[in-house]
Amino acid sequence: MPRSPVGRETDRVDGRLKVTGAAEYSGDYRATDLAHAHLVTSTIARGKVTGFDTAAALASPGVLRVYTAPDRRLPLYLATGQAAGFTENYLPLNTDMIHFHGQAIAMIVAESPEQARDAAALVTATYDTQPPRTSIADEPRVPAGPTISGAPSSLNILAPGVGSIDAALAASDVVVEADFHQNIQHQAAMEPHAVLAVWHGDRLTIHAGAQIPAAYALGMAQRLGVLPQNVQLITKYVGGGFGARVVLWSDTPLAAAAAKELGRPVRLVLTREQMFTLTGHRSHLTQTVRLGASREGVLNAVSHRSVAERPTTIAFTMTPAHSTSDALYRTPNLHVDAQLAVLDIPGSRAMRGPNEAPGSFALETAMDELAVATGVDPVTLRLRNNATTSPSTGLPWSSKHLEECYRVGAERFGWSARSAMPRARVDGQWLYGVGMATAIYPAHRRLGVVVRVQLRNDDTAVVSTATSDLGTGSWTMVAVTGADALGIPVQRVTPEIGDTVLPPGAPAVGSSGTHATVPMVVDAARNVIAELKRVAVTAERSPWHGAAVEDLRYERGILHGLGHSMTFGRLLTVTGSPGIYMESAPGGQPVPGYVHHSFGAHFCEVRVNRFTGETRVTRFTTVADVGRVINAKAARSQLVGGVIFGIGHALLEENHLELRTGRLANSTLADYLVPVNADVPDIDVVMLDRPDPVLTGPLGDGSEDVGTQSLGARGLGEIGTVGSAAAIGNAVYNATGIRVRDVPITLDKLI
Ligand code: MOS
Repeated sequence: MPRSPVGRETDRVDGRLKVTGAAEYSGDYRATDLAHAHLVTSTIARGKVTGFDTAAALASPGVLRVYTAPDRRLPLYLATGQAAGFTENYLPLNTDMIHFHGQAIAMIVAESPEQARDAAALVTATYDTQPPRTSIADEPRVPAGPTISGAPSSLNILAPGVGSIDAALAASDVVVEADFHQNIQHQAAMEPHAVLAVWHGDRLTIHAGAQIPAAYALGMAQRLGVLPQNVQLITKYVGGGFGARVVLWSDTPLAAAAAKELGRPVRLVLTREQMFTLTGHRSHLTQTVRLGASREGVLNAVSHRSVAERPTTIAFTMTPAHSTSDALYRTPNLHVDAQLAVLDIPGSRAMRGPNEAPGSFALETAMDELAVATGVDPVTLRLRNNATTSPSTGLPWSSKHLEECYRVGAERFGWSARSAMPRARVDGQWLYGVGMATAIYPAHRRLGVVVRVQLRNDDTAVVSTATSDLGTGSWTMVAVTGADALGIPVQRVTPEIGDTVLPPGAPAVGSSGTHATVPMVVDAARNVIAELKRVAVTAERSPWHGAAVEDLRYERGILHGLGHSMTFGRLLTVTGSPGIYMESAPGGQPVPGYVHHSFGAHFCEVRVNRFTGETRVTRFTTVADVGRVINAKAARSQLVGGVIFGIGHALLEENHLELRTGRLANSTLADYLVPVNADVPDIDVVMLDRPDPVLTGPLGDGSEDVGTQSLGARGLGEIGTVGSAAAIGNAVYNATGIRVRDVPITLDKLI
């Protein structure tokens, strides 16, 4: 019997297309009579644009249009309802107001991209300038409001008789208090934001990279003032998201409005520099963590406060204590609070592990400081404070194997050989140190996901759902899950994703695409197998005509019963059908009484040069509890990528905002450093593969016709990055005795 493909290493079904260049990304699509757009952006952060000199641009070769703010030749509208949360709240080129440095204020359309770019460089603007609000330290603050999960971002849970969190801390034997700072970070996806907009009468087809296809298309309809059913989004191959493609930013509506006004298809590709201001970033952030504990390190009080940005045009509600300090350790007294400062800066938005990556850096560094203060081993300290119910809600987890992550990781990494004393291991110029940290990430529910499964008369199947693949492996996840559910080889399953004509799919956001999709694949397969049996007993030319469906059993693509056996393709062929399909019920209903998270433990070794302060990550082991693993190859790749994000967070990534001008000062990939291969050691990844018995619905027991091996999966796209920066920082402390709470840990902070 062939094994289920679930959990094996499956090559990407789209791999060959990608490596041969045949996969079309949004900017690769062609159209007849295509025109090319290029944006001009503001050079002030706050004020009004008072005029333009466009004469040279208009006279430049190939130029078709020069749209300038606020000529309103490209009418745009504000989105409403749910779509409002996924769009910006101002109308570029329809207003003279400047909200941030790098805002779109004009757009050139020309016959070639080069002509559009050259003409854009010839446009100059004049401004009425006001001083921008740029400092989270100085500007007035507002409460962050509910978290992205809808939970309160401000909590004060106190044990009976305890008057305040300060009283709880004061009554603790050992107190650690630490302030953390991090600068602006960027998603820096490899593929630039690109759009091709084509109108056929009233109907618009958009090719653009989107993490939430349905919200993106709906937002487009609303931004353009057309009906939703007239907008189709195609987003088949996407070169990275990391949060930067959650929002419908203004480039796409502007391109589509220009295509309509001009009567020609329009392509707009942002430059790398424009992506730094027009597609979101991770907010500038300060955090304060206070931990109170007994001499044995048992927590008595946890307090976690933060201040982040609230840009005026769109914002992510940054609540870094949410799903970190409010979820990770058992404590009788818990206080979390998140504030935002209103600023005139480019829109900030979710970036991989949006709350959890920065929040865990603060919490897990403070935990390391508590280990130092109490003399308790960092792994032992975490085991001592392991929670069995969520400290903020009191609910149990649907599945939690964090203690096993610590034990397996410590063993593989050789944690017991560690010296608690900093600077204990020196080799020539290099100080060696090790550190560890915990990872946690919520498994969000997604309502309304539908999957369609079609059985075809050539014994292949098509599994369809309008999710998108950011490079994460969703194409293959759909194929593997479909193959398991139908009991046929992966090669006989054609996945269809990345097009809003398909049934509504999972958002590729918040590490939820896989666990939101797999139960719906199973449900759709169950429904289509039942339909196949109905066809078998009702179609005249079927050998089972007139029998009862209970007499039939489906197994591995073949119907059996009453002495006959026939593949589904053969049955469909003899009954004259090209194929049959069924959809799943809409998924995502919560199971009350549980919280859902993935977990992990990171172990890291670094070496720090005694003379230059240069830090190199030399070893890294990650053990992840992410439920059932669907594709071990893609899952490992996601976890490795997450850890590499952590290396960037800890050691390299920051953009400096010039406080006086509001300009993001190092908005190029030459000046904004991300890890390259030379920064990354071989990363050892272990996945426990313990199926979650609740999140995707009850695990199958093998008694059904449909394969259920994919049930029990949980998200893993972000957990690798959560905690990994803290593990590196803790290793730097162990190597040097220097505690750096202001990332990135650049060499100047170590000498
Ligand atoms: Mo992710 S930051 O939820 O796209």
